[in-house]
Amino acid sequence: MPVPRLQQQNEGSLLATDRTLDSTMAPALAGSVEEFVDLARSSKCAYEAAYAIAEFSRHPERNAGGPEVLQYRPDHVVALPGEQEVLIRNEFCGMNYVDTYFRNGLYPSPKPEVLGREGAGIIVTLGSGVTICSDLAVGDRVAWLGTGGYAQYTAVPVAKLIKLPARVSFQDAAASLLGGLTVLTLTEEAYHVRPGDWALVHAAAGSVGGMLVQVLKSLGAQVVATAGGPEKVAIVNNLGADHVIDYRDDKGPRWPKQVRAITAGAGVDVVYDSVGLDTWEGSLDVVKRKGTIVWFGNASGPVPPLSLQRLSAECVKVARPLLGGYIATRQEFEYYCTKLFGLLTQGKLELRVHKVYDLEGVQQAHKDIERRDTAGKLLIKIDHSN
Ligand SMILES: NC(=O)c1ccc[n+]([C@@H]2O[C@H](COP(=O)([O-])OP(=O)(O)OC[C@H]3O[C@@H](n4cnc5c(N)ncnc54)[C@H](OP(=O)(O)O)[C@@H]3O)[C@@H](O)[C@H]2O)c1
Repeated sequence: MPVPRLQQQNEGSLLATDRTLDSTMAPALAGSVEEFVDLARSSKCAYEAAYAIAEFSRHPERNAGGPEVLQYRPDHVVALPGEQEVLIRNEFCGMNYVDTYFRNGLYPSPKPEVLGREGAGIIVTLGSGVTICSDLAVGDRVAWLGTGGYAQYTAVPVAKLIKLPARVSFQDAAASLLGGLTVLTLTEEAYHVRPGDWALVHAAAGSVGGMLVQVLKSLGAQVVATAGGPEKVAIVNNLGADHVIDYRDDKGPRWPKQVRAITAGAGVDVVYDSVGLDTWEGSLDVVKRKGTIVWFGNASGPVPPLSLQRLSAECVKVARPLLGGYIATRQEFEYYCTKLFGLLTQGKLELRVHKVYDLEGVQQAHKDIERRDTAGKLLIKIDHSN
């Protein structure tokens, strides 16, 4: 039986330089950092992750780019949890469109980087000074927001970690945490939705778009949605949208006219625009007087610079939110998590999963979502069998 060669790194992380065959003594048995280190040294743990290319010195130009910069790495360095962090043995990681922005450099971040900003799994080790949620213990089922999710193990800050209710599965948690919290903040804070409001949702067959349609309907809004292609239109119709427009068919460029017609010329109270560049002009066109455009994503690219003067004639508001800004405090984070878990446990939020990938399939997942081939959530199931 090969023994893993583990090295203590300067930053206090472990590097597994050998794959091993037996993971039966996984660090789920470990309680403290010291126990984890001992166990890892003496037993059979293998770590793997997919992450953006590490070869800075040889290929500095390739540290960000298309899906081809993603590499599957069985020699991944597992970070030990630092202060106010815990180490999670991931069961599922959610793939989000934002992962592509960090991969391609639209959102700058240091490389090499393990992508993946949400996951669900079990706490295997507590870092020092874990006090924010003092009831956390090894073995707890949790979901988290952070970085480094495309991996078997991730060290995550406890501030963005939440215990899972027994009735919320790892899969559902990873399929809904980031997107679900986004939807709840967009409908309560970016624009406070009231019954009877007209709302326009772009890319409504997507993971966030699909949840947004459902939450808007539960709040009593009248929903006009756009989606690309007849199959996606059918999916959004089934979610309860009042009107669904295929913005990629022959009449696609005419979708603003269709929205105007549906709303008897008035336009909508709020546009939720996550497509960006391609829909931006239309969104400005169909928002009604005193209405709000919430631009929250760049699936087709960032929107062009906007002269504020352009908003004055119709007294239009533009919001450009990021989830992190709405859940900065522990209180805010728990408030929205409680709401989300309430929707899930009461069966009020249908989670459509497009496909479950494994770590080796992460590159394909990035290709699929950028080709607009997906409808619903892309998940990564973490295999611990080797
Ligand atoms: N601001 C925040 O805090 C926040 C948080 C979460 C998500 N978001 C944003 O929400 C959006 C949805 O995220 P998601 O993870 O749920 O992804 P997704 O909606 O499942 O996938 C993206 C969808 O965007 C549409 N799209 C339109 N033009 C596109 C283009 N040129 N290239 C690729 N896709 C295009 C496609 O749907 P069609 O085929 O129907 O056009 C595609 O399926 C993203 O823009 C993301 O950045 C923002």
